[in-house]
Amino acid sequence: MYKEIIQPILNKCDSETFHDLARESLHLAELSPITLKFLEFFADKHSRFEDKRLSVNLSGLELENPLIVGAGWDKKGRAILGLWHLGFASVEVGSVTEYGQPGNPQPRLFMISSGVAINWLGFNSPGMDIVAKNLDRYKNTNIPIGISLGLNKEVEHKDAPRAYATVTKRMYEYAGYFAINVSSPNTPGLRKLQDKEYIVQLIEAVNQAMDECGARKPLFVKIAPDLTFDAIDELLQVCIDHSVTGIIASNTTINSDLKGKYGTRWKNSPGGLSGDDESYRKMTTDIITHIYRNAGDKLDIIGVGGINNAESALEKIKAGAKALQLVTAIRGEGTAVAGKINRGIAAYLDREGVSSIQEIVGIDSSK
Ligand SMILES: Cc1cc2nc3c(=O)[nH]c(=O)nc-3n(C[C@H](O)[C@H](O)[C@H](O)COP(=O)(O)O)c2cc1C
Repeated sequence: MYKEIIQPILNKCDSETFHDLARESLHLAELSPITLKFLEFFADKHSRFEDKRLSVNLSGLELENPLIVGAGWDKKGRAILGLWHLGFASVEVGSVTEYGQPGNPQPRLFMISSGVAINWLGFNSPGMDIVAKNLDRYKNTNIPIGISLGLNKEVEHKDAPRAYATVTKRMYEYAGYFAINVSSPNTPGLRKLQDKEYIVQLIEAVNQAMDECGARKPLFVKIAPDLTFDAIDELLQVCIDHSVTGIIASNTTINSDLKGKYGTRWKNSPGGLSGDDESYRKMTTDIITHIYRNAGDKLDIIGVGGINNAESALEKIKAGAKALQLVTAIRGEGTAVAGKINRGIAAYLDREGVSSIQEIVGIDSSK
């Protein structure tokens, strides 16, 4: 129903307006249990899919299936319950900045081809206080929420540890896990924070902030797919040495050859590409394979990049990802995407006689 009725109407809007409408529609559906039940059937013609074999444990954080809505879809934290009813186990909210900022001038989000996006939003965030207030309403739902930690544009690198720690403390009570996002391409200089000299201080500041709040929660570092394997290896060692739980691989790519496939307009445009592009999907899967081979026993991997069906989800799991995130496919494939992926994974487990997805994590990494 989504593809036949809703998508053609929304396709006439600017991509960001489409996105905002989609999020606010889910928010509205949260009005009552009846509208939420209606949402499940409207979205997927099924009630929410559940299967214990799909459950995942990320350093103590229990997810009932591997699918997390990636950062950027619900930056404000307004549609957590709606997204859960669509079949996701969790939502990574944000990236959340210390204070509100508008991000880059619009337009700044484009569907450049079916299922493929380029965005240069630039951390448009209402700021941590408003996000916290929004998340208050989900406190009794028990839905695990990830908090993606972002950085205001004007903050200097030397002040970044304080800023990340401040957001960590403010969002602590809502977070099932935290993600340090130093890989968005749209805040000038942010990716530089992936360098050892900076990332060590950020991790230490976030860990200390959690300690001051009472206990550590799972902590992930989200990386760019444009790093060399040498740079990734250095980062992995830093993460292992500083008690990071795992890596989110990856953010959007700024690779100009890849963007250039969609026309000269995009080749040198700002922004990062995401979604259903074969080369991008492979690039992000190769990074997962590399991380799993080199640090899979010490770091959990959340795989992200071009996942849009059960096949691409299984590719990332078999490469080494314990859990998965998707963003662009919620637009490209529509509201049924999580249900379809979860049912597809379960069908694969049936066919192969496998008793849990845990058994297939990383099985392709030695090929
Ligand atoms: C519109 C949009 C906004 C995004 N905003 C963020 C963000 O604020 N923080 C972040 O860590 N990643 C952000 N991302 C990156 C996604 O979380 C994800 O890493 C990337 O889109 C690849 O996944 P996909 O191919 O499933 O979209 C954003 C992506 C898109 C498309």
